[in-house]
Amino acid sequence: MHVAQHEVSTQHELLGQLAETRRRSDELFDLVRPDSLYERPITERHRVVFYIGHLEAFDWNLLRERLLGLKPFHSEFDRLFAFGIDPVGRGFPSDKPSDWPSLEQVHEYVGRVRQTLDQALQRLSGDSAGSSEFPVSLLLNVAIEHRLMHAETLTYMLHQLPLDRKMRRAGRPEPIAPSVTPRMTEVPAGCATLGLSRQSGAFGWDNEFEQHVVSVPAFAVDECKTTNGQFLEFIAAGGYQNPAFWTAADWQWRCAQNICHPMFWRQEAGRWLLRTMFEDIPLPDDWPVYVSHAEASAYARWAGKSLPTEAQWHRAAFSTPEGTDRPYPWGGKLPDETLGNFNFHSWDPVSVAAFPQARSAFGAAGLLGNGWEWTSTVFAPFTGFEPFPFYLGYSADFFDGKHYVMKGGSTRTAAPLLRRSFRNWFQPNYQYVYAGFRCVRN
Ligand SMILES: [Fe+2]
Repeated sequence: MHVAQHEVSTQHELLGQLAETRRRSDELFDLVRPDSLYERPITERHRVVFYIGHLEAFDWNLLRERLLGLKPFHSEFDRLFAFGIDPVGRGFPSDKPSDWPSLEQVHEYVGRVRQTLDQALQRLSGDSAGSSEFPVSLLLNVAIEHRLMHAETLTYMLHQLPLDRKMRRAGRPEPIAPSVTPRMTEVPAGCATLGLSRQSGAFGWDNEFEQHVVSVPAFAVDECKTTNGQFLEFIAAGGYQNPAFWTAADWQWRCAQNICHPMFWRQEAGRWLLRTMFEDIPLPDDWPVYVSHAEASAYARWAGKSLPTEAQWHRAAFSTPEGTDRPYPWGGKLPDETLGNFNFHSWDPVSVAAFPQARSAFGAAGLLGNGWEWTSTVFAPFTGFEPFPFYLGYSADFFDGKHYVMKGGSTRTAAPLLRRSFRNWFQPNYQYVYAGFRCVRN
């Protein structure tokens, strides 16, 4: 009785969260001018309209039969909107706007999916919830976090739309930050805890399991993320012209694409401008630089340093001199807006030194939010990995040696995804992510 009651209240909370995340994704589509919803802002990805249908088709395909025993009403759209594109090793998509259904048809599908799901989910009592092969809370968390992750990656996509195709939205004003003096902080040899324990009962994606402890030799780590100002020095030193700083594959990519500066930058009349979400501004020196893994690695080599491994990042962020681990770099307090630039409060970065109160036990600052951080670790399963039977490819499709782990979070990363065990990953030449880096010296 007590357990069933608990399950019902959790379900109730999760339904509230699902409604909240729908508002998040709706507000993103609302900032695109309606005549631009069939644009493809990133060549490798789908047109914007795909994602309007995708977020609902995903929930519908996940929950419809497995949990709710409902019949399909539009199988064609269930399939059309089922999957995004993994850009690795495939040609660019060549569909035309006219290949897609009208906005009216898509919105009708979205409305009907939401209404049908919501009615059925409301009817689920604690008892009937037990008849599914999977816990209701697991499936609802998958739906909620899938949508939260898209709320972030869609923002990267809309960032690439021309400014006049977007309706400007406000963010919170930039906090006043002390000026940045690049420094490193020592992290003594010791252990780092990675992953999530199945026994904890906490929700995590397949790639977060199982929890394990890694021994890490002593190293020094940058206190803050690398800034635009620091990256300018790399450019001035000819970093983009010297193959010695690049791996063979990265150099080939750099030359083939003629990449000479970070993708979010542009030069005009001899000065650097930064493309933010809604305007071009003079390049702020103290904001974190957003670059691909290839560019981050080249910078690190030029600086005589390297990117941290995933284990080093964990140790710098969560470990303590006492040998215990913290849930968050600053301690046990849940993330709020005084501790970092995350959870949708801003559209753009702030100074890397903006949240000194959020330092880790070893003195590293700004680890969560304000831009993901690249690691040198290739994305691979932890021991004990098992794919979700209802989403086999979520992680396993990317265990190909071509993706690198990112940790931390960006301005548009939702608070639940800031948990210690959450892992993100991208291929090394993908430039559109809100990702930067800090270096280590071994
Ligand atoms: Fe998706």
